[in-house]
Amino acid sequence: MLGTEAREALYDIIRMRRDVRAEFAGEQIAEDVLWRVLAAAHHAPSVGNTQPWDFVVVQDEQRLKEFAGHVAGCRQAFADSLPEDRKSTFDPIKIEGIIESRTGIVVTYDPERGGKHILGRHTVDESGLFSAVLAIQNLWLAATAEGLGVGWVSFYEEEFLADFVGVSAPARPIAWLCVGPVTRLQEVPDLERFGWRKGRPLEEAVHRDRFVGPDNQKS
Ligand SMILES: Cc1cc2nc3c(=O)[nH]c(=O)nc-3n(C[C@H](O)[C@H](O)[C@H](O)COP(=O)(O)O)c2cc1C
Repeated sequence: MLGTEAREALYDIIRMRRDVRAEFAGEQIAEDVLWRVLAAAHHAPSVGNTQPWDFVVVQDEQRLKEFAGHVAGCRQAFADSLPEDRKSTFDPIKIEGIIESRTGIVVTYDPERGGKHILGRHTVDESGLFSAVLAIQNLWLAATAEGLGVGWVSFYEEEFLADFVGVSAPARPIAWLCVGPVTRLQEVPDLERFGWRKGRPLEEAVHRDRFVGPDNQKS
């Protein structure tokens, strides 16, 4: 059993974890630390023990710049799709730290890993994808414990990223993670600080016996 201190440390790490964009210090993650956080990711639970993830580590500056250019285009397309009031709230929000983090980890998901008869995926096909996402969360928490920042970037065309890292269907990239040393971790999520969207109270998310909730929970 874990002692109180270890238990509190875990909750602290969960609370401290932030999605980082502006706070990357510009140094590269040390190789041994990189392998520790990848090992944490690889320890995630997975349906049928399939471990359907792979990790492509991108550190070449030119390649990071190329991906950042693609993401800038996607950010602009999103900005152009917004009504005026949302657009002005969105404008100052930084949505990635691809170059400053110095390391991108592309997480891929292979639905064919484990063959046809996957224990636990018979009725819920997405449980494979869920498993790969759990690997990401493990990586995120381990990186936080290491004093690093992680920023999940999803402003990309999946086809572009698949081609960029050379992964072919049915496997697919599911995330670009910016990972690197940080100057600090913000206490409040960026999207709250910039007035984009607040978190909701736990009490609203927990239900007993059956789901009940006002319609306004959808907004
Ligand atoms: C699946 C997923 C995709 C995300 N994509 C982006 C993104 O493209 N750019 C960005 O700035 N943040 C992205 N985020 C971060 C969220 O905005 C962030 O997790 C949320 O605002 C809560 O903040 P926190 O993670 O600091 O608690 C993503 C998070 C998740 C889970």
